[in-house]
Amino acid sequence: MASVIDILRERARRRAHRMVFDYIDGGADDEATLLENRSAFREYEIAFRVLAGIEQVDTTTSLFGQPMRYPFFFSSAAGNRLFHTQGEVAVCTVADELGIPYSLSTLASTSIEEIAALNTGPKFFQLYVWKDRGLLREMLERARAAKFNAMLLTVDFPVTGNRERDLSNGFTIPPKIGLRQALEAIRRPAWTWDYLTSPPIRYANLSGNVSATTLNQFVAEQLYCGFSWREAEWLLGEWNGPSGIKGVVQADDAVHAVATGFDCVIVSNHGGRQLDTSVPPLRALPTIADRVGSDAEIVLDGGVRRGTDILKAIALGARCVSFARPYLYGLAADGVAGVREAANFMAASLERDMMLAGVGTIGEITRDLVRLKVQSV
Ligand code: LAC
Repeated sequence: MASVIDILRERARRRAHRMVFDYIDGGADDEATLLENRSAFREYEIAFRVLAGIEQVDTTTSLFGQPMRYPFFFSSAAGNRLFHTQGEVAVCTVADELGIPYSLSTLASTSIEEIAALNTGPKFFQLYVWKDRGLLREMLERARAAKFNAMLLTVDFPVTGNRERDLSNGFTIPPKIGLRQALEAIRRPAWTWDYLTSPPIRYANLSGNVSATTLNQFVAEQLYCGFSWREAEWLLGEWNGPSGIKGVVQADDAVHAVATGFDCVIVSNHGGRQLDTSVPPLRALPTIADRVGSDAEIVLDGGVRRGTDILKAIALGARCVSFARPYLYGLAADGVAGVREAANFMAASLERDMMLAGVGTIGEITRDLVRLKVQSV
């Protein structure tokens, strides 16, 4: 059946320019991983508990010592103002309302300082590694000055994945409007009006203007793909604060990350947007959780669409989850109201599913709550 997220996706598809919707919705190559990230959740079933005497559930937890009213946060995503003029401000507003951390992308269309002025809760800064170390230092300095609570280093992006929808749409950031894009813009008047009447979209955290370019070109020109564990260690020294590593599926890498000094491992394959047919995070999670143990916090990112998905991820060893498409569909569909709809749906869905599963707190979501389908109860 169609959930609130499915409906928001459909509304986003109808409102947003096709190249924008496809950028949010699409994955790499054949989009096999995009689907598997989601279907991996179906491999587990919930062995719910009964008569647990729960009148009310408590969904609170923490990450990096920062309080969270719900065990999820919005994964950072580039250029939110491209989806709706309210952009990152809308997403940050809803994160604050809900009592969850906000996570800002290096490639955001709203600046570190604008977010710091608005945000009231905990906040994380997602980092891509630049060729220019001066720029890297400057960004970390700005994030520190703006009191970001943690840095999340994305490591699954040495080059951009082969996103064939973006290639066929001629997608660039900021958008380059040629004849084809202009014709499509006419078919999406609400998005086009919004786009034409709001300040130009740019990478707000980079000094100067980066002219319209495909993500592939941009990444190839600006990001440093030769980044290694040694340099990650250097980076942690520069940041000298709570840190997470995002985009890990190998247990050995997770262990290496913890030994290097990361406090948190985000098990993720970038939403199926990078290496197609890569391991879905949920399948990678149990082994990583076993190997890492209590040495670091673990976040599951990828394919989360309902409360039961959150329950399964936590039962298999995640402290909390993160997701991007659900709130991005909401943003592209209806700005802050759409983000709120997506967030409230996820929160209500988790609360209901905790009641149904007989768990009153996040701590009660233990491994025995889920079974692989083939096992007998
Ligand atoms: C993406 C990067 C920019 O997935 O996070 O498009």
